Amino acid sequence: MMGLSILLISVACSEGLGTQKATAASLAQSSAGAPGSIEPVTSAVPYPLGLPSALKGRSVYQANCASCHGTYLTAVEKTNWEAQKNLPQEQWSEVTQQLVKENRQPNNPLWERKVNPDFYSADWRFEKTPGELFRLIETGKDRFGRLHPGPSGKMGEGWKGAIKDNRGGQLVATGDPIAIWNVVFYVWSRSIAGASPTRFTEAWNVYSQNCNVCHGTLGKGDGPLHKTLQPLPFNFQNYKAMAETTDTFLYWRISEGGQWTSIPESIQRTMTPEALKLYVHQWSSMPAWKGILTEQERWLAVDGVRSRTYEHE
Ligand code: HEC
Ligand code: HEC
Repeated sequence: MMGLSILLISVACSEGLGTQKATAASLAQSSAGAPGSIEPVTSAVPYPLGLPSALKGRSVYQANCASCHGTYLTAVEKTNWEAQKNLPQEQWSEVTQQLVKENRQPNNPLWERKVNPDFYSADWRFEKTPGELFRLIETGKDRFGRLHPGPSGKMGEGWKGAIKDNRGGQLVATGDPIAIWNVVFYVWSRSIAGASPTRFTEAWNVYSQNCNVCHGTLGKGDGPLHKTLQPLPFNFQNYKAMAETTDTFLYWRISEGGQWTSIPESIQRTMTPEALKLYVHQWSSMPAWKGILTEQERWLAVDGVRSRTYEHE
Protein backbone atom coordinates (compact mmCIF):
# COMPACT_ATOMS: atom_id res chain seq x y z
CA MET A 1 0.00 0.00 0.00
CA MET A 2 2.53 2.47 1.18
CA GLY A 3 4.92 1.60 -1.66
CA LEU A 4 2.13 2.05 -4.17
CA SER A 5 1.07 5.47 -2.98
CA ILE A 6 4.66 6.71 -2.98
CA LEU A 7 5.15 5.34 -6.48
CA LEU A 8 1.98 7.03 -7.76
CA ILE A 9 2.98 10.35 -6.25
CA SER A 10 6.50 10.23 -7.68
CA VAL A 11 5.13 9.30 -11.11
CA ALA A 12 2.70 12.23 -10.96
CA CYS A 13 5.52 14.61 -10.00
CA SER A 14 7.96 13.55 -12.70
CA GLU A 15 5.45 14.10 -15.50
CA GLY A 16 5.53 17.33 -17.51
CA LEU A 17 2.76 19.16 -19.33
CA GLY A 18 0.90 17.72 -22.29
CA THR A 19 -0.48 14.21 -22.50
CA GLN A 20 0.98 10.78 -22.24
CA LYS A 21 0.60 7.79 -24.53
CA ALA A 22 0.22 4.41 -22.88
CA THR A 23 3.55 2.67 -22.43
CA ALA A 24 4.32 -0.72 -23.95
CA ALA A 25 4.10 -2.21 -20.46
CA SER A 26 0.65 -0.78 -19.78
CA LEU A 27 -0.61 -1.91 -23.20
CA ALA A 28 0.69 -5.43 -22.58
CA GLN A 29 -1.15 -5.39 -19.28
CA SER A 30 -4.36 -4.17 -20.97
CA SER A 31 -4.50 -7.10 -23.40
CA ALA A 32 -4.32 -9.52 -20.47
CA GLY A 33 -8.07 -9.31 -19.68
CA ALA A 34 -10.34 -12.19 -20.78
CA PRO A 35 -12.58 -11.44 -23.80
CA GLY A 36 -15.63 -9.52 -22.68
CA SER A 37 -14.04 -8.39 -19.44
CA ILE A 38 -14.02 -4.71 -18.59
CA GLU A 39 -11.16 -2.89 -20.23
CA PRO A 40 -8.41 -2.17 -17.69
CA VAL A 41 -7.91 1.48 -16.79
CA THR A 42 -4.32 1.21 -18.01
CA SER A 43 -5.51 0.86 -21.64
CA ALA A 44 -4.50 3.46 -24.20
CA VAL A 45 -6.13 6.53 -22.67
CA PRO A 46 -3.84 9.52 -23.11
CA TYR A 47 -4.25 11.02 -19.64
CA PRO A 48 -3.54 14.74 -19.36
CA LEU A 49 -0.37 15.49 -17.45
CA GLY A 50 -1.13 19.09 -16.63
CA LEU A 51 -4.46 20.42 -15.32
CA PRO A 52 -7.11 20.28 -18.02
CA SER A 53 -8.94 23.57 -18.47
CA ALA A 54 -12.71 24.02 -18.56
CA LEU A 55 -11.97 27.63 -19.54
CA LYS A 56 -10.17 26.53 -22.71
CA GLY A 57 -12.83 23.87 -23.25
CA ARG A 58 -15.51 26.50 -23.78
CA SER A 59 -14.43 27.44 -27.31
CA VAL A 60 -13.93 23.75 -28.15
CA TYR A 61 -17.49 23.16 -27.01
CA GLN A 62 -18.89 26.08 -28.94
CA ALA A 63 -17.14 24.98 -32.14
CA ASN A 64 -17.96 21.25 -31.99
CA CYS A 65 -20.76 20.46 -29.59
CA ALA A 66 -23.18 23.40 -29.21
CA SER A 67 -25.08 22.61 -32.42
CA CYS A 68 -26.59 19.55 -30.65
CA HIS A 69 -26.10 20.27 -26.94
CA GLY A 70 -26.97 23.99 -26.94
CA THR A 71 -25.14 26.99 -25.53
CA TYR A 72 -23.98 27.05 -21.93
CA LEU A 73 -22.93 30.18 -20.10
CA THR A 74 -20.71 30.99 -17.16
CA ALA A 75 -22.54 31.67 -13.90
CA VAL A 76 -22.05 35.43 -14.35
CA GLU A 77 -23.17 35.33 -17.97
CA LYS A 78 -26.22 33.30 -17.04
CA THR A 79 -27.28 35.64 -14.21
CA ASN A 80 -26.72 38.67 -16.45
CA TRP A 81 -28.65 37.14 -19.32
CA GLU A 82 -31.62 36.19 -17.14
CA ALA A 83 -31.79 39.72 -15.69
CA GLN A 84 -31.29 41.57 -18.97
CA LYS A 85 -32.80 39.55 -21.79
CA ASN A 86 -36.01 41.59 -21.84
CA LEU A 87 -34.30 44.99 -21.54
CA PRO A 88 -33.46 47.16 -24.55
CA GLN A 89 -29.99 46.43 -25.92
CA GLU A 90 -28.56 49.80 -24.79
CA GLN A 91 -29.04 48.70 -21.18
CA TRP A 92 -27.15 45.41 -21.45
CA SER A 93 -24.00 45.02 -19.41
CA GLU A 94 -20.68 44.45 -21.14
CA VAL A 95 -20.88 40.75 -20.29
CA THR A 96 -24.22 40.37 -22.06
CA GLN A 97 -23.06 42.42 -25.05
CA GLN A 98 -20.02 40.20 -25.41
CA LEU A 99 -22.23 37.11 -25.23
CA VAL A 100 -24.39 38.29 -28.10
CA LYS A 101 -21.35 39.43 -30.07
CA GLU A 102 -19.96 35.89 -29.80
CA ASN A 103 -23.34 34.55 -30.89
CA ARG A 104 -23.75 32.54 -27.69
CA GLN A 105 -27.09 33.85 -26.45
CA PRO A 106 -29.27 30.96 -25.30
CA ASN A 107 -32.27 31.89 -27.47
CA ASN A 108 -30.22 31.68 -30.67
CA PRO A 109 -32.00 28.87 -32.59
CA LEU A 110 -28.66 27.58 -33.88
CA TRP A 111 -27.59 26.81 -30.34
CA GLU A 112 -30.87 25.57 -28.95
CA ARG A 113 -30.40 22.36 -27.00
CA LYS A 114 -31.57 19.46 -29.14
CA VAL A 115 -30.31 16.49 -27.12
CA ASN A 116 -30.13 15.36 -23.52
CA PRO A 117 -28.58 15.57 -21.02
CA ASP A 118 -28.90 19.16 -19.89
CA PHE A 119 -25.29 19.67 -18.77
CA TYR A 120 -26.48 22.34 -16.32
CA SER A 121 -28.35 19.71 -14.31
CA ALA A 122 -26.46 17.89 -11.56
CA ASP A 123 -27.18 14.19 -11.65
CA TRP A 124 -25.97 13.24 -15.15
CA ARG A 125 -22.33 13.13 -13.98
CA PHE A 126 -22.48 11.45 -10.54
CA GLU A 127 -21.92 7.90 -11.77
CA LYS A 128 -19.57 8.77 -14.64
CA THR A 129 -15.83 9.18 -14.59
CA PRO A 130 -14.06 11.89 -16.60
CA GLY A 131 -12.04 9.07 -18.23
CA GLU A 132 -15.22 7.37 -19.43
CA LEU A 133 -16.54 10.61 -20.95
CA PHE A 134 -13.17 11.14 -22.61
CA ARG A 135 -13.39 7.68 -24.23
CA LEU A 136 -17.00 8.30 -25.31
CA ILE A 137 -16.03 11.50 -27.12
CA GLU A 138 -12.65 10.34 -28.43
CA THR A 139 -13.80 7.03 -29.89
CA GLY A 140 -17.59 7.40 -30.20
CA LYS A 141 -18.31 4.63 -27.71
CA ASP A 142 -17.73 3.88 -24.05
CA ARG A 143 -16.87 0.59 -22.32
CA PHE A 144 -20.57 -0.27 -21.95
CA GLY A 145 -21.05 -0.02 -25.70
CA ARG A 146 -22.98 3.24 -25.52
CA LEU A 147 -22.60 5.27 -28.73
CA HIS A 148 -22.11 8.98 -29.35
CA PRO A 149 -22.12 10.92 -32.66
CA GLY A 150 -18.91 12.32 -34.17
CA PRO A 151 -18.13 15.29 -36.46
CA SER A 152 -20.26 13.98 -39.34
CA GLY A 153 -23.16 13.22 -36.97
CA LYS A 154 -22.76 9.44 -37.36
CA MET A 155 -23.30 7.40 -34.17
CA GLY A 156 -20.21 5.57 -32.95
CA GLU A 157 -17.83 7.96 -34.71
CA GLY A 158 -15.07 9.50 -32.54
CA TRP A 159 -13.78 13.08 -32.48
CA LYS A 160 -10.15 11.94 -32.36
CA GLY A 161 -8.04 13.97 -34.79
CA ALA A 162 -11.07 15.98 -35.97
CA ILE A 163 -12.03 18.07 -32.94
CA LYS A 164 -11.61 21.79 -33.57
CA ASP A 165 -9.67 23.81 -31.03
CA ASN A 166 -8.82 27.49 -30.76
CA ARG A 167 -5.14 27.85 -31.73
CA GLY A 168 -3.96 31.45 -31.87
CA GLY A 169 -7.45 32.77 -32.61
CA GLN A 170 -8.12 30.18 -35.35
CA LEU A 171 -10.31 27.09 -35.06
CA VAL A 172 -8.28 24.16 -36.32
CA ALA A 173 -8.81 20.39 -36.23
CA THR A 174 -6.31 18.90 -33.82
CA GLY A 175 -5.11 15.45 -32.82
CA ASP A 176 -4.08 16.75 -29.39
CA PRO A 177 -6.13 14.85 -26.79
CA ILE A 178 -5.97 17.83 -24.42
CA ALA A 179 -8.72 19.49 -26.53
CA ILE A 180 -11.02 16.57 -25.63
CA TRP A 181 -10.04 16.66 -21.93
CA ASN A 182 -10.71 20.40 -21.88
CA VAL A 183 -14.18 20.01 -23.36
CA VAL A 184 -15.02 17.09 -21.04
CA PHE A 185 -14.19 19.31 -18.05
CA TYR A 186 -16.08 22.19 -19.62
CA VAL A 187 -19.32 20.16 -19.70
CA TRP A 188 -18.52 18.78 -16.22
CA SER A 189 -18.09 22.33 -14.89
CA ARG A 190 -21.48 23.37 -16.38
CA SER A 191 -23.07 20.96 -13.95
CA ILE A 192 -21.41 22.76 -11.01
CA ALA A 193 -22.17 26.24 -12.36
CA GLY A 194 -25.77 25.15 -13.04
CA ALA A 195 -26.30 24.20 -9.39
CA SER A 196 -25.75 27.80 -8.28
CA PRO A 197 -23.64 30.76 -9.41
CA THR A 198 -21.68 30.54 -6.14
CA ARG A 199 -21.21 26.76 -6.11
CA PHE A 200 -17.45 26.85 -6.88
CA THR A 201 -16.91 29.33 -4.03
CA GLU A 202 -19.01 27.33 -1.57
CA ALA A 203 -17.12 24.17 -2.53
CA TRP A 204 -13.82 25.95 -2.03
CA ASN A 205 -14.96 27.15 1.42
CA VAL A 206 -15.78 23.63 2.60
CA TYR A 207 -12.52 22.28 1.15
CA SER A 208 -10.27 25.01 2.54
CA GLN A 209 -11.80 24.84 6.02
CA ASN A 210 -11.65 21.06 6.41
CA CYS A 211 -9.31 19.44 3.91
CA ASN A 212 -6.44 21.85 3.17
CA VAL A 213 -4.62 20.96 6.37
CA CYS A 214 -3.85 17.47 5.03
CA HIS A 215 -4.54 17.54 1.29
CA GLY A 216 -3.07 21.01 0.63
CA THR A 217 -4.39 24.07 -1.20
CA LEU A 218 -3.73 22.60 -4.63
CA GLY A 219 -4.86 19.14 -3.52
CA LYS A 220 -1.40 17.66 -3.98
CA GLY A 221 -1.53 15.84 -0.64
CA ASP A 222 1.02 18.24 0.83
CA GLY A 223 -0.90 20.19 3.49
CA PRO A 224 0.86 21.23 6.75
CA LEU A 225 -0.04 17.93 8.50
CA HIS A 226 0.91 15.56 5.70
CA LYS A 227 4.36 14.54 6.97
CA THR A 228 2.90 13.12 10.16
CA LEU A 229 0.59 10.69 8.30
CA GLN A 230 1.04 7.21 6.86
CA PRO A 231 -0.37 6.53 4.33
CA LEU A 232 0.05 10.08 3.07
CA PRO A 233 -3.06 12.15 2.25
CA PHE A 234 -4.33 11.46 -1.26
CA ASN A 235 -2.84 13.53 -4.07
CA PHE A 236 -5.85 14.79 -6.06
CA GLN A 237 -3.51 15.74 -8.90
CA ASN A 238 -2.84 12.04 -9.42
CA TYR A 239 -4.54 12.39 -12.71
CA LYS A 240 -5.13 8.76 -13.60
CA ALA A 241 -6.78 8.05 -10.26
CA MET A 242 -9.07 11.07 -10.38
CA ALA A 243 -9.98 10.48 -14.05
CA GLU A 244 -11.18 6.97 -13.15
CA THR A 245 -13.12 8.01 -10.03
CA THR A 246 -16.84 8.84 -9.86
CA ASP A 247 -18.37 11.57 -7.70
CA THR A 248 -20.58 8.88 -6.13
CA PHE A 249 -17.43 7.12 -4.96
CA LEU A 250 -15.81 10.34 -3.70
CA TYR A 251 -18.94 11.13 -1.66
CA TRP A 252 -18.92 7.68 -0.07
CA ARG A 253 -15.16 7.86 0.62
CA ILE A 254 -15.40 11.33 2.18
CA SER A 255 -18.33 10.18 4.36
CA GLU A 256 -16.66 6.95 5.55
CA GLY A 257 -13.05 8.14 5.92
CA GLY A 258 -10.12 5.73 6.11
CA GLN A 259 -11.56 3.10 8.47
CA TRP A 260 -14.00 1.31 6.14
CA THR A 261 -14.28 -2.47 5.80
CA SER A 262 -16.11 -2.97 2.49
CA ILE A 263 -17.32 -0.85 -0.40
CA PRO A 264 -21.11 -1.16 -0.98
CA GLU A 265 -22.04 -2.79 -4.30
CA SER A 266 -23.95 0.36 -5.38
CA ILE A 267 -20.70 2.33 -5.13
CA GLN A 268 -18.44 -0.36 -6.60
CA ARG A 269 -20.45 -0.72 -9.78
CA THR A 270 -19.82 2.93 -10.74
CA MET A 271 -16.06 2.26 -11.03
CA THR A 272 -13.90 -0.30 -12.83
CA PRO A 273 -12.48 -3.13 -10.67
CA GLU A 274 -9.01 -2.00 -11.80
CA ALA A 275 -9.52 1.55 -10.54
CA LEU A 276 -10.80 0.23 -7.20
CA LYS A 277 -7.79 -2.05 -6.89
CA LEU A 278 -5.18 0.49 -7.95
CA TYR A 279 -6.33 3.67 -6.29
CA VAL A 280 -8.44 2.87 -3.23
CA HIS A 281 -6.65 2.37 0.08
CA GLN A 282 -7.90 1.25 3.47
CA TRP A 283 -6.90 1.99 7.06
CA SER A 284 -5.72 5.57 6.83
CA SER A 285 -6.16 8.56 9.11
CA MET A 286 -8.60 10.18 6.68
CA PRO A 287 -11.44 11.32 9.00
CA ALA A 288 -15.03 10.09 8.44
CA TRP A 289 -16.94 13.27 7.67
CA LYS A 290 -20.47 11.88 7.92
CA GLY A 291 -20.81 12.87 11.58
CA ILE A 292 -19.12 16.23 11.07
CA LEU A 293 -20.31 17.70 7.77
CA THR A 294 -23.94 17.66 6.56
CA GLU A 295 -24.86 15.74 3.41
CA GLN A 296 -24.92 19.01 1.49
CA GLU A 297 -21.46 19.99 2.76
CA ARG A 298 -20.06 16.57 1.81
CA TRP A 299 -21.32 17.03 -1.77
CA LEU A 300 -19.67 20.45 -1.75
CA ALA A 301 -16.49 18.72 -0.55
CA VAL A 302 -16.75 16.40 -3.60
CA ASP A 303 -16.89 19.44 -5.89
CA GLY A 304 -14.04 20.99 -3.89
CA VAL A 305 -11.86 17.93 -4.42
CA ARG A 306 -12.75 17.67 -8.10
CA SER A 307 -12.08 21.42 -8.55
CA ARG A 308 -8.44 20.78 -7.58
CA THR A 309 -8.14 18.65 -10.74
CA TYR A 310 -9.06 21.17 -13.46
CA GLU A 311 -8.95 24.88 -14.20
CA HIS A 312 -12.37 26.53 -13.99
CA GLU A 313 -14.16 29.89 -13.77
C1 HEC B 1 -24.76 15.39 -33.70
C2 HEC B 1 -25.19 15.78 -32.36
C3 HEC B 1 -24.15 15.77 -31.26
C4 HEC B 1 -22.94 16.43 -31.26
C5 HEC B 1 -22.33 17.31 -32.34
C6 HEC B 1 -22.35 16.16 -29.95
N1 HEC B 1 -23.18 15.38 -29.21
FE1 HEC B 1 -22.87 14.76 -27.28
N2 HEC B 1 -24.56 13.68 -27.29
C7 HEC B 1 -25.45 13.62 -28.36
C8 HEC B 1 -26.52 12.72 -28.03
C9 HEC B 1 -27.70 12.36 -28.92
C10 HEC B 1 -26.24 12.24 -26.71
C11 HEC B 1 -27.07 11.27 -25.88
C12 HEC B 1 -26.63 9.87 -26.16
C13 HEC B 1 -27.40 8.91 -25.27
O1 HEC B 1 -28.37 9.32 -24.62
O2 HEC B 1 -26.99 7.76 -25.23
C14 HEC B 1 -25.02 12.86 -26.29
C15 HEC B 1 -24.42 12.64 -25.07
C16 HEC B 1 -23.26 13.26 -24.63
C17 HEC B 1 -22.62 13.03 -23.37
C18 HEC B 1 -23.01 11.99 -22.35
C19 HEC B 1 -23.69 12.55 -21.17
C20 HEC B 1 -24.06 11.42 -20.27
O3 HEC B 1 -25.13 11.49 -19.66
O4 HEC B 1 -23.29 10.46 -20.15
C21 HEC B 1 -21.54 13.84 -23.30
C22 HEC B 1 -20.54 13.99 -22.16
C23 HEC B 1 -21.48 14.56 -24.56
N3 HEC B 1 -22.55 14.18 -25.34
C24 HEC B 1 -20.52 15.46 -24.86
C25 HEC B 1 -20.35 16.00 -26.14
C26 HEC B 1 -19.23 16.81 -26.51
C27 HEC B 1 -18.09 17.22 -25.58
C28 HEC B 1 -19.39 17.14 -27.83
C29 HEC B 1 -18.48 17.95 -28.70
C30 HEC B 1 -17.13 17.45 -28.87
C31 HEC B 1 -20.62 16.53 -28.26
N4 HEC B 1 -21.18 15.85 -27.22
C32 HEC B 1 -21.14 16.66 -29.55
C33 HEC B 1 -25.36 14.32 -29.56
C34 HEC B 1 -24.29 15.10 -29.97
C1 HEC C 1 -6.13 14.33 9.03
C2 HEC C 1 -5.76 14.47 7.66
C3 HEC C 1 -6.87 14.50 6.64
C4 HEC C 1 -7.91 15.41 6.54
C5 HEC C 1 -8.23 16.57 7.46
C6 HEC C 1 -8.64 15.05 5.35
N1 HEC C 1 -8.08 13.97 4.75
FE1 HEC C 1 -8.73 13.03 3.07
N2 HEC C 1 -7.29 11.62 3.27
C7 HEC C 1 -6.33 11.61 4.26
C8 HEC C 1 -5.54 10.41 4.15
C9 HEC C 1 -4.37 10.02 5.02
C10 HEC C 1 -6.07 9.68 3.06
C11 HEC C 1 -5.67 8.32 2.56
C12 HEC C 1 -4.84 8.34 1.33
C13 HEC C 1 -5.03 7.11 0.55
O1 HEC C 1 -6.08 6.48 0.66
O2 HEC C 1 -4.12 6.82 -0.23
C14 HEC C 1 -7.17 10.48 2.52
C15 HEC C 1 -7.96 10.10 1.45
C16 HEC C 1 -8.96 10.87 0.90
C17 HEC C 1 -9.75 10.52 -0.25
C18 HEC C 1 -9.64 9.24 -1.02
C19 HEC C 1 -9.27 9.39 -2.44
C20 HEC C 1 -9.43 8.11 -3.18
O3 HEC C 1 -9.62 8.19 -4.42
O4 HEC C 1 -9.39 7.04 -2.58
C21 HEC C 1 -10.63 11.54 -0.46
C22 HEC C 1 -11.68 11.65 -1.56
C23 HEC C 1 -10.40 12.53 0.57
N3 HEC C 1 -9.37 12.10 1.37
C24 HEC C 1 -11.10 13.71 0.68
C25 HEC C 1 -11.00 14.57 1.78
C26 HEC C 1 -11.87 15.70 1.98
C27 HEC C 1 -12.95 16.16 1.02
C28 HEC C 1 -11.50 16.25 3.18
C29 HEC C 1 -12.14 17.44 3.85
C30 HEC C 1 -13.58 17.40 4.01
C31 HEC C 1 -10.40 15.47 3.70
N4 HEC C 1 -10.12 14.46 2.84
C32 HEC C 1 -9.75 15.75 4.88
C33 HEC C 1 -6.15 12.56 5.23
C34 HEC C 1 -6.99 13.61 5.50
